Amino acid sequence: MKVLFIGGTGNISSAVSELTVSKGFDLYLLNRGTQNSLAPKEATLIQCDIRDKSQAASVLKDYRFDIVVDWIAYEPEHIINDIELFKGKTKQFVFISSAACYERPPMNYLVNESCPLKNPYWGYAQKKIVCEDILVKEYRESGFPVTVVRPSYTYGDTLIPYVFNSRKSRWTLIDRMLKGKKVIVPGDGTSLFTVTHNTDFAKGITGLFGNVKAVGNAYHITSDEVLSWNQIIKIIADAVGVEPDLIHIPSDFLSIMSPENRGGLLGDKSVSIVFDNSKIKQAVPDFKALVPFTRGIKKTIAWFQSDPCRMVPDQAFDRLCDDIIDTYMLSVDKAVEYARKKYEK
Ligand SMILES: NC(=O)c1ccc[n+]([C@@H]2O[C@H](COP(=O)([O-])OP(=O)(O)OC[C@H]3O[C@@H](n4cnc5c(N)ncnc54)[C@H](OP(=O)(O)O)[C@@H]3O)[C@@H](O)[C@H]2O)c1
Repeated sequence: MKVLFIGGTGNISSAVSELTVSKGFDLYLLNRGTQNSLAPKEATLIQCDIRDKSQAASVLKDYRFDIVVDWIAYEPEHIINDIELFKGKTKQFVFISSAACYERPPMNYLVNESCPLKNPYWGYAQKKIVCEDILVKEYRESGFPVTVVRPSYTYGDTLIPYVFNSRKSRWTLIDRMLKGKKVIVPGDGTSLFTVTHNTDFAKGITGLFGNVKAVGNAYHITSDEVLSWNQIIKIIADAVGVEPDLIHIPSDFLSIMSPENRGGLLGDKSVSIVFDNSKIKQAVPDFKALVPFTRGIKKTIAWFQSDPCRMVPDQAFDRLCDDIIDTYMLSVDKAVEYARKKYEK
């Protein structure tokens, strides 16, 4: 079976590319070629900027694929372009959406695929929901063969998963730990989340490829290992051999001082959510996530430590953390002083 990935050398998709070729699919990767070292040698590479519509149409005009996976559609126009490119030319189109689309805060902590999609906090999730809506309408009206896949927080070698870290350099968190600096944990750190290793995610999604029952359906694919952020940060610190100095700060406060993180906090990671993976397990009976975070994160840290260029912190984010902590402590000190005056005899 011929499979096209738009993307395919990224944080999640690189592991899926590896498993796809090892399962015997004939894999094509369409991307700009900036990370070709992460592409499996068996894959055929198509160099193209998918945002250049005429280039994409011209490069793809003579191809037919059994399965197309778009890893990098974030905007409604990306999906509209995909429908134009692949309508009548593929048997299955997989849209990589996000588990951030599920209602936040959830009505029930345990979420399955029937739960409403509604995220008032995060534009990223709102746009993914619109993309899903466009695809479902197209499936109903013209039979466009869509399968929606919603990853939750998924990591591999190149991503240290944490709730409040620099997107520019994930090493910033570790750098703070190694220097004995305080590490910010949103809320009291007890909200529950799931981090999934990309090799586990790969087993679930490749099981949906060519699976006729998956067309017209949506699935999330996560680990069943549920951890609090306090546990996650402790496991990361253990992997680098330090005792972390934690400071718990309300997510609302963090969102004021770091508005770009508001969506990811209030609309995702600071709210407890647990995924019921029954649907993917029914569709892909041999799917089972096997990489515990204690093991996966050691491999990630080793990847960073194998090249000093990867261990450079984001100075601006580091300063922001210091500023947030100083400002928060100022308000706490004032509140303590006020409470003492008012209540202490
Ligand atoms: N990680 C998570 O926790 C998480 C959670 C929920 C949902 N998701 C979803 O997962 C998807 C991300 O997958 P990923 O981690 O594999 O992606 P990624 O790490 O962002 O990788 C991007 C891939 O797309 C290619 N690319 C980027 N811009 C391109 C362009 N203009 N034209 C052609 N190719 C381009 C890159 O190669 P070149 O640079 O060489 O072009 C690379 O292969 C997103 O849809 C995201 O919303 C992720």
